[in-house]
Amino acid sequence: MSGVRTPVEAPVEVDGLLEVAGLVVDLPGARGPVRVVDRVTFDIPPATTVGLIGESGSGKTMTANAVIGLLPEGAATGGELRWRGEDLLRASPARRRRLRGHEIAMIFQDPLAALNPTQTIARQVGEILRRAGRPRDEVRRRVLELLERAGIPEPAGRMRSYPHEFSGGMRQRAMIALALAGSPALLLADEPTTALDVTVQARILRLLRSIQQDEGLAMLLVSHDLRVVAHVAHQVVVMYAGRVAERGPTAAVLARPAHPYTRALVDSVPAVRTRTALAHPLPGTPATPANRPPGCAFHPRCPLARERCRTEEPEPRTVAPGRWAACHFAEELLQR
Ligand SMILES: Nc1ncnc2c1ncn2[C@@H]1O[C@H](COP(=O)(O)OP(=O)(O)OP(=O)(O)O)[C@@H](O)[C@H]1O
Ligand code: SF4
Ligand SMILES: [Mg+2]
Repeated sequence: MSGVRTPVEAPVEVDGLLEVAGLVVDLPGARGPVRVVDRVTFDIPPATTVGLIGESGSGKTMTANAVIGLLPEGAATGGELRWRGEDLLRASPARRRRLRGHEIAMIFQDPLAALNPTQTIARQVGEILRRAGRPRDEVRRRVLELLERAGIPEPAGRMRSYPHEFSGGMRQRAMIALALAGSPALLLADEPTTALDVTVQARILRLLRSIQQDEGLAMLLVSHDLRVVAHVAHQVVVMYAGRVAERGPTAAVLARPAHPYTRALVDSVPAVRTRTALAHPLPGTPATPANRPPGCAFHPRCPLARERCRTEEPEPRTVAPGRWAACHFAEELLQR
């Protein structure tokens, strides 16, 4: 991964566990590099869940992958990623590997991508402990504890099970146990419930929320589903076409969005706001990082767009205490 120099445009709070400041990710494309993450700024304080929301292709996964240090071949990064003050983008590959699993762990939409089909779940969950030289008895005890914590029933009887013997929901729980094995301080969860049916989805979300609270974990929850973020996240970061449209405390942002894109997302899910409102699907198609309209990237879909929006890109700025938005008319929207 090589470095791309870009100005860090926005200040970040310094007390974050993870501080993301002006993060840039360029991926190689057929006609040159494509900026799929563009000057993204937010922070994750300790023991806080931050939801990363946006439509498909908005750059959520690439942002999370940059944090864990697993970007596609040929990716170039810029800006800053600070972990307890340490500059991750300039850390050695060995240091990144050491942080992965121990301090920062990740769970994905598809547990089969993370689990080894040829090893028992218990063996995989215990791997990080064995590598740390923990005695056998202690490893077994801790694996049982972790499987139980992840809500796997009768964990002692499951010690010899392989991933294919588990249901989708149980595999997701096994992956959560695996992620917790290194006692991380930050858990990255990328669409952790998207592939599950609605009831299992709700159970896994409850589990993640209770683990986050009990263990005092920080969590970055990536989802395209506003309802998921509304239930779990203290803070929300809304992304559009690779950039942050808005961020702030979840309850405040969802109750009174400062960006028309957030408002459109909220209106597309009536249960987020009221029980009676009709859902209004988002109009138009999302801008892609490779094909950003000039000015504000959201202007072709924005009901509030004015002349200025077509030519002048709005910069993110503080629009109310603790609230950030990148819309020329955010203050107006907040007063409505
Ligand atoms: N391996 C890759 N090589 C090139 N471009 C990619 C690659 N993976 C993703 N992209 C592009 O990067 C952009 C951001 O993708 P990303 O996966 O971060 O989106 P996302 O917000 O996670 O979307 P989704 O909700 O569909 O998971 C998209 O435009 C996508 O087409
Ligand atoms: S800057 Fe203009 S087009 Fe963009 S979100 Fe705000 S009002 Fe809409
Ligand atoms: Mg994704």
